Amino acid sequence: AREAHLRSILETVPEAMVVIDQEGKIASFSPAAEKLFGYTTDQVRGRNVSMLMPPPDRDNHDLYLSRYLATGRRHIIGYGRIVTGLKKDGTRFPMELAVGETVTRGQRIFTGFIRDLTSRHKMEEELRQAQ
Ligand code: HEM
Repeated sequence: AREAHLRSILETVPEAMVVIDQEGKIASFSPAAEKLFGYTTDQVRGRNVSMLMPPPDRDNHDLYLSRYLATGRRHIIGYGRIVTGLKKDGTRFPMELAVGETVTRGQRIFTGFIRDLTSRHKMEEELRQAQ
């Protein structure tokens, strides 16, 4: 029942949500994330979250994670950051990323909330050009 409740929340949250384990493997992927990135949950579950970003972060994300686990020094958790995401069709897009950390059943998991900034950036660009 608890899981069904959680699922119903995830289905209505407009923000894309991605949950990973401490190795960076995707454990859950919300409907909004499916729509944004163009992958179904089945296509991403168990794969490395780095598949959702272009290089150089794609090649470094495992290092970011292991460095955080070793040092406890946070760069995104608690602060958020604007980064570049990568869709299944190869499109890169600006996204605001917020990451939270939780421990469930002795396992550390990270929850990422993603806001697509594409239209905001387009509007800002149009405003600049109109000046
Ligand atoms: C760290 C990029 C998605 C979890 C980082 C850092 C970068 C980054 C640049 C290191 C920052 C630094 O050391 O200065 C990205 C990009 C993403 C993405 C481009 C695009 C899809 C995610 C998602 C999650 C996540 C979806 C969680 C579900 C983490 C964690 C750290 C980290 C746990 C280490 C802790 C921290 O630095 O606070 N990421 N990330 N990332 N990322 Fe990601």
